[in-house]
Amino acid sequence: MTTAQLAIDGGTPAVSRRYRERWRSVHLRDLAAIVRYGYRDVNTIAKGDGPIAEFEQKFAALTRTRHALAMNSGTAALHSAYFAVGVKPGTEVIVPSYTFFASAAPILQCGGTPTFCDVDARTLTADPDDVERRITPRTRAICVVHMWGNPAPMDRLADIARRHGVALIEDCSHAHGASYRGRPVGSWGDIGCFSLQGVKAVSGGEAGIAVTNDPLLFDRMLVLGHYGRLKHGQAKSSFATDHISLGLKYRPHVYAILLALGTLSRLDELNRRRRRNYEILGAELAGCRAVQPIETTPEANRGGFLEFIVRYDPAHAGGWSCRTFIKAARAEGVPIAEERYARIGDQGHMLHESPVFTTLDVSALGGYLGGRSAELAPRRNGGLPVTQLLAGRLMTLPPFTRVPERFVRECARALRKVADAAAAAGGRGPT
Ligand SMILES: Cc1ncc(COP(=O)(O)O)c(C=O)c1O
Repeated sequence: MTTAQLAIDGGTPAVSRRYRERWRSVHLRDLAAIVRYGYRDVNTIAKGDGPIAEFEQKFAALTRTRHALAMNSGTAALHSAYFAVGVKPGTEVIVPSYTFFASAAPILQCGGTPTFCDVDARTLTADPDDVERRITPRTRAICVVHMWGNPAPMDRLADIARRHGVALIEDCSHAHGASYRGRPVGSWGDIGCFSLQGVKAVSGGEAGIAVTNDPLLFDRMLVLGHYGRLKHGQAKSSFATDHISLGLKYRPHVYAILLALGTLSRLDELNRRRRRNYEILGAELAGCRAVQPIETTPEANRGGFLEFIVRYDPAHAGGWSCRTFIKAARAEGVPIAEERYARIGDQGHMLHESPVFTTLDVSALGGYLGGRSAELAPRRNGGLPVTQLLAGRLMTLPPFTRVPERFVRECARALRKVADAAAAAGGRGPT
């Protein structure tokens, strides 16, 4: 087989133009809205009305839920959700190890114990069989993460949660506008949590939101961190606390919500563009055994994405390490990097191996973070064979949104070129 000379070896790069994403999160008209509020000297809305109420209504409509509560981060939304469903000392929450740490860390804040589960090798979302195996009488909740915008199989997970009488929380931080079997993510569980941070598909810079159909769960989230809304804002008047909250403040900044309103209005277009580009990438990589986009869950419609993740199989690329492959692909002009959730910290841990979840007595760090009693040590955290194999097997591309179609095709062809050259090198690295 003759293969084209790699750019890293002096050949012509396969991608003919520099990567430039023309999709913008912040538009001038969003900034004009902030200026209008600033000019009126309004910089906080404690009662959650005005743009905050408007955003919550629109987000509830997006997710087809009754109640939405905007917050200042996705982490705050997850903490509120765990608190609301009753996670506390002596309880466990099943959560994938393959996720951003903030899916799991707020469980500790509630005094609960994370029980880490494995993911489906094809979709990277929670493996329902493994979730069910890890349920004990102490399990209070299951948290499912729609990784990289790919919905987990929610019918099975909702069924498991119902049969075992445990709460179901969805971490939808990567998956704004995604759906499973035609039903939006965030509406399948008891509570759906979304980060609205940074480069998320709907973003306020720093913000988050939780959605639910249950007015009591809404009120519990309110009482945790929304001083200012307790008097008139409760969905069910569940609490009489003299209108004071429990010491946390999770209220969002109104300017962040003005930004989030802008991005929400453009979500459909963003998702249309990303779905199309993900499809092109998949079509161009068809049959390439070294590099494949992550499969979409059957009957699911991806949304949000955050990043385009591809799976790497060194067995079909001359045994090249992921890092060597990436170096060669970058020389071709592909904006590709190593995926970062499978290998975290200086030691390259998986999340469930990280000291916060294993050896560290977090309560000794100061304040109350639940601590960890010996009997609740994370003893069932072993046996995650799929997660174990992800390090060095996943690579990430930016979520191509407003880039020329030709650029996406060239990136895919460049990956194929590197894979072919690597396979032909038969164990040797780039020359
Ligand atoms: C899966 C997941 N969950 C939770 C979060 C936390 O969100 P935030 O950064 O808004 O607190 C993130 C943020 O990136 C995330 O990716």
